[in-house]
Amino acid sequence: MTTAKGKTMTKFAWQLRSQLHLLTGFIAGFVCAFVLLLHIYDVRNGINCSTTTAISSSSSISSFIGSSAASMSLAQFKNELQWKVPPARVLCMVLTCPEYVERYAQHVYATWGRRCTKLVFVSSEDYEPLGVVQVVDADGGSYHDLWNKTREGFRHVWQEYGEEYDWFLKADDDTYVIIENLHHMLSAYDANMPLYFGYQMRRYNVSYMSGGASYVLSREALRRFMKQAYGFDQICPEARKMGIEDFYMGICLQNVGVHLIDSTRAVADDDKPKFFPLDVESFLYKSNESIPTWLQEMSVSEIDTGLNCCSNYSIAFHYTKPERMYLYEFLLYHLRVFGQKWSAEQLPRRWTFSEMVEMYPLENNSEILDLRQMSEKPDNF
Ligand SMILES: *[C@@H]1O[C@H](CO)[C@@H](O)[C@H](O)[C@H]1NC(C)=O
Ligand SMILES: *[C@@H]1O[C@H](CO)[C@@H](O)[C@H](O)[C@H]1NC(C)=O
Ligand SMILES: *[C@@H]1O[C@H](CO)[C@@H](O)[C@H](O)[C@H]1NC(C)=O
Ligand SMILES: *[C@@H]1O[C@H](CO)[C@@H](O)[C@H](O)[C@H]1NC(C)=O
Ligand SMILES: *[C@@H]1O[C@H](CO)[C@@H](O)[C@H](O)[C@H]1NC(C)=O
Repeated sequence: MTTAKGKTMTKFAWQLRSQLHLLTGFIAGFVCAFVLLLHIYDVRNGINCSTTTAISSSSSISSFIGSSAASMSLAQFKNELQWKVPPARVLCMVLTCPEYVERYAQHVYATWGRRCTKLVFVSSEDYEPLGVVQVVDADGGSYHDLWNKTREGFRHVWQEYGEEYDWFLKADDDTYVIIENLHHMLSAYDANMPLYFGYQMRRYNVSYMSGGASYVLSREALRRFMKQAYGFDQICPEARKMGIEDFYMGICLQNVGVHLIDSTRAVADDDKPKFFPLDVESFLYKSNESIPTWLQEMSVSEIDTGLNCCSNYSIAFHYTKPERMYLYEFLLYHLRVFGQKWSAEQLPRRWTFSEMVEMYPLENNSEILDLRQMSEKPDNF
């Protein structure tokens, strides 16, 4: 991951040495120390916000800024979209931080973010050109404050837009989302039902949706989170450092009667995952060496690898570097395979409330109903 940076720095070191042929050893030593410092800085930077782990930055990011996608206005872009059905209204809440606005957020804005009915970036500092909103204090936006940022982000979104949208997607600034496929899945559901979709995981016998893979709340789920869970510390963890954002969210939602719908079970006749906590190629390679054990242990559904890993109507991929976002844009929305004909597509049938309850019964939350009484729990409780 740091190879590119390492190479640049070695070149830098070499140039320095050739210019100052005296004191070569001293300078080399100095440069090494400098590289080390930079590296440490970069790693710290890498965990500054969102669930992103340190992905080294691209040196050519500024070349994207002027791309045609980036310079097209949101309204222009939406006019170009041809929806086959009137889509539900999806608000996308993307977590970012000041350091990542240029590095990541702007590329979400220039690619998939434009397909959201409403795109809101939440951060610890405003940045108007992209619609980035400050929802936590300037010193409260680091990775350790992720739980607070998510809570405050949802509070902001609920206060400002709660009534105007049907579905609320939470994603990171290094997630790539195929909004059309999200509509496809959601079209079977009514946003007035309390629902929570994503890649289901399990820890301490508590189910929740992976945060990095992104998850979706119905309007009713968000209403319950805000009215019945937020601020009720006995059933929903309060703001604190080092909170486990996705795990906490799962606890809060279960305690207010929200139904968990793992994406492997969300669409009839399609039992493959649609939200991915890793980059998609980790699953596509037939050997499962790229699947870490923690994921295998925490996943609720069996992990398949190879071309059958993933739904043909997949929705979200985590750990997407900015360059990848443009690659996916190209492959999904531009590239044609000459002579290819798709068979007719159908939207899934809409479930009734009783069908939904039967398919996706509420989790047994007796162990987490009072967080002070939890027998086995993470350290930070
Ligand atoms: C959470 O964020 C709010 C808004 O910035 C702030 O007032 C509060 O102190 C934060 N709480 C913690 C524990 O960081
Ligand atoms: C999870 O539940 C099972 C049985 O329901 C129990 O044996 C196990 O100890 C529990 N594990 C944790 C971590 O709570
Ligand atoms: C990989 O596949 C092997 C053989 O099927 C299995 O035993 C192992 O648990 C898998 N590991 C992971 C991390 O999925
Ligand atoms: C996914 O697409 C491939 C290629 O078109 C097709 O062979 C496969 O049957 C599809 N899978 C499902 C479950 O429809
Ligand atoms: C829920 O779990 C608790 C303990 O884990 C158990 O005693 C209780 O019977 C379970 N309730 C249902 C409805 O399964």
